[in-house]
Amino acid sequence: MEPTTVAPETEAVPLTEVVTTTAAPVPTGLSEFDRAMGGGFVPGSVTLLGGEPGIGKSTLTLQVAAGMARREGRVLLVGAEESAAQVRLRAERLGALVDGVWLAGDADLDTVVAHLDRVGPDLLVVDSIQTVHDPAVTGVPGSTAQVRACAHRLVGEARRRGTTTVLVGHVTKDGSLAGPKVLEHVVDTVVELTGDRHHALRLLRVAKHRFGPTDELGLFEMVADGMRPVEDPGRLFLADRAPDVAGSAVLPAMEGHRPLVVELQSLVVRATTHHPRRSSQGVDPRRLALLLAVLERRVGLELGALDVYVTAVGGVQITEPGADLPLALAVTSALTGRRLGSETVACGEVGLGGEVRQVAHLERRLQEARRLGFTRAVLPESGPEGPPGMEVIRVRTLAEAVEATGLLGTPERAA
Ligand code: TYD
Ligand code: MG
Repeated sequence: MEPTTVAPETEAVPLTEVVTTTAAPVPTGLSEFDRAMGGGFVPGSVTLLGGEPGIGKSTLTLQVAAGMARREGRVLLVGAEESAAQVRLRAERLGALVDGVWLAGDADLDTVVAHLDRVGPDLLVVDSIQTVHDPAVTGVPGSTAQVRACAHRLVGEARRRGTTTVLVGHVTKDGSLAGPKVLEHVVDTVVELTGDRHHALRLLRVAKHRFGPTDELGLFEMVADGMRPVEDPGRLFLADRAPDVAGSAVLPAMEGHRPLVVELQSLVVRATTHHPRRSSQGVDPRRLALLLAVLERRVGLELGALDVYVTAVGGVQITEPGADLPLALAVTSALTGRRLGSETVACGEVGLGGEVRQVAHLERRLQEARRLGFTRAVLPESGPEGPPGMEVIRVRTLAEAVEATGLLGTPERAA
């Protein structure tokens, strides 16, 4: 028998001749949202917005919806989580009660699609994807099968109609986008809203972006009338700082491309049990344990019989390695009662050998620290020159850093 060849239904095209059609992003008018998204919504794109319950997803999406409606866009808000009256009251409070925003409380997928036909929105917000259900699929709303089926259908509708779509998804406490996690590959953009519920700060991070930069960050403060963009975080994390207290060190951190200057604090006290406490807020406890071990072995501090507390001030989570050096200095300062000085910042990764290593974007970090009035920086040996007015202390090891900053020796006063 002759081998048969099948004529392809579509022709392959040379890569160089592919036409790019990605439209420019449309700003929503909410500055920090647009910044995080790389300018706004790419028309027809699908975004998954994840975050813990109560973190501010509905507030943010309502503000974004109002922003789009003010710019002549039609918006359809779908969701069974809150009643229409509740949404209206909230919109009034947020100053987000504008023409062009439509509400539907239905949770049935076919009805949602029918509303899409009727309203013909430019932007569809589904809050949340866990409340919608597809009658053709078994399982309760929020189950993986339902979330997946509903999202697939809505993404299909978005593509077919060119409707920009936001799917809101609740993330479970352990940090995984439990239900919504399964959606990450079907959407174009994944953004996550995080923060500490006891603090006003909210961070909007872009984890995946098919049409724009990732690593962008939007900053907001949750206030009485909604999410207020924080365009200059400058002293946000330094407010109410106790001047010159032992146990404090300042880190010029980077969140994506954005410098954030954050205070790290430590307190050490005599342990009251045989198992000394190691307590950390906003700092990875494993990183703290490692640094304490390095301080013991490479610097010779005795921490074994002490409770150690550390916090990153302001409800921010610091995960970057550059925090090692200031954290170790804060603990040392808390132990010896000698102060680092309120004009000093420190940044560097600490290795198990006690060596201090380079981290990225040191120049940018130092510029921001200098802008905020800091005049001294403790850095890895390979660190850059500081900006004018900034003295740089370069160190090879943590022991050198402790020495150079004068943290060892007798306390200046009781810590
Ligand atoms: P919400 O947007 O409902 O969170 P999510 O949709 O992520 O579950 O916001 C929840 C909390 O935010 C609520 O407990 C009260 C607070 N909040 C404010 O502080 N200011 C406001 O203007 C609004 C609307 C809410
Ligand atoms: Mg909500």
